[in-house]
Amino acid sequence: MERKIRIFDTTLRDGEQAPGCGMNLEEKIEIARQLELLGVDIIEAGFAISSPGDFTSVQAIAREIRGCTVASLARAVEKDIDTAYEAVKHAESPLVHTFIATSPVHMQYKLRMTPEQVLERAASAVAYAARLCPNVEFSAEDAMRSDREFLARVVEAAIASGAKTVNIPDTVGYVTPEEMFSVITYLKSAVPNIDKAVLSVHCHNDLGMAVANSLSGIKAGAGQVECTVNGLGERAGNAALEEIVMAIKTRREFLNCYTGIDTRQISRTSKLVYGIIGQTPSINKPIIGANAFAHEAGIHQHGVLAERTTYEIMSPEDVGITKSKLILGKHSGKHAIEDRLREMGYYLDGKKLTECYEKFKDLCDKKKNIVDSDLEALVNDREYVQSHYRLEYFDVHTAKASSSTCVIRLGKNDEVFEEVSLGDGPINAAYNAIDKITGGICDELNNYGIHSVSDGKDALGEVTVRLRAGDRTVTGRGLSTDIIESSILAYINGINKLIQQ
Ligand code: KIV
Ligand code: ZN
Repeated sequence: MERKIRIFDTTLRDGEQAPGCGMNLEEKIEIARQLELLGVDIIEAGFAISSPGDFTSVQAIAREIRGCTVASLARAVEKDIDTAYEAVKHAESPLVHTFIATSPVHMQYKLRMTPEQVLERAASAVAYAARLCPNVEFSAEDAMRSDREFLARVVEAAIASGAKTVNIPDTVGYVTPEEMFSVITYLKSAVPNIDKAVLSVHCHNDLGMAVANSLSGIKAGAGQVECTVNGLGERAGNAALEEIVMAIKTRREFLNCYTGIDTRQISRTSKLVYGIIGQTPSINKPIIGANAFAHEAGIHQHGVLAERTTYEIMSPEDVGITKSKLILGKHSGKHAIEDRLREMGYYLDGKKLTECYEKFKDLCDKKKNIVDSDLEALVNDREYVQSHYRLEYFDVHTAKASSSTCVIRLGKNDEVFEEVSLGDGPINAAYNAIDKITGGICDELNNYGIHSVSDGKDALGEVTVRLRAGDRTVTGRGLSTDIIESSILAYINGINKLIQQ
């Protein structure tokens, strides 16, 4: 019989652990709302005990999100479990996710525990969590490098202690699809109480096999898959949600399963997450890369025009990529913009729609043809930091073979600050002037990136910068048709985030 596979999204926990992917509270809530629209079954909102910020965001998401389960991670210790439950308890459907490592290398060197102690701890942690929360998931960290018989005993003990889901992670992205298939098949037959819980897989992508391994786990009988939007995550990342979901949709008969995901929200979700962390996909990234549905070779174009399925196994519309339309321009009213946004899958409420419309009108003064991708960039160009510095004015002078100068004026509440600075190029001059005003809060700037949002000489340019202050790293973003202005906005956005965190 065809099975429904639960999608457990861990973008806000495992994904956010990736260097430079830290997000603030508003950004996390924005992503959680979009995951709810996307139709994921579970949102792992964070690791509540890891920091006060994580606790607050898990709690805020638990309070806000309705219609899907909200989880917090917890080590197999009572304090972690108490904190995780405290953070998720107001969710419509709370979940405590507790874990302990079961591989010899982790038990010996990280935990300094014997296998029997780990077994006992796994069981007691699950039992403790189950007394607090009706829904408990247990993960055997590094399961794929664990002894199978021992893993089976731990899984059995976790289920006997009350775990409703048991997750089998490939923590270091080590196994091949055949091995994953064989471990899940083995657990299904070797664990006597396996029918009392759902088996889950959680794969990392170190050898580029996370999605293949996840599908193999599903084929062998896993009923839940853990993944992140855009495959975000530490090192080479986690299994990409959009790839797993589209593989299940496209190969539904072969895999004999389906998901509850509204795939038309995939493109939008992916862009939101990339926008927040200040990254863009490589052009050939499956499902969401710019070339994922492009046919360059003449023979392919001819085939697709004659019959789409000759070279296309999915349609761009399935993942929410609509054919780019020309927006009417400066005479378009707010309703026309609202209608177009709805067609593109964006439902903005009154205040956000007005903000977006104001930005649209400003853009009309600078750019002749405005297309969907411009509109989408305006929607995603939200100022998540409410206070701190804002750009009031700048004036840059630059010439070949001499230093550039920048005068910059920033506002902060009712105050206005102005500085002038020299620099090696206009952006460096502007950043030096901003540093004078903001007191040089940023220790290091790296990964300056620029890309155009649409085509044409007057395209909107989006700049992203990664800024570090001590051990905190944030991404700043700026959007304008003027790349110096985008660069300044990105730097100010990053500084505001550093101040806020
Ligand atoms: O990769 C992993 O093992 C994890 C667990 C904590 C679930 O992220
Ligand atoms: Zn993981």
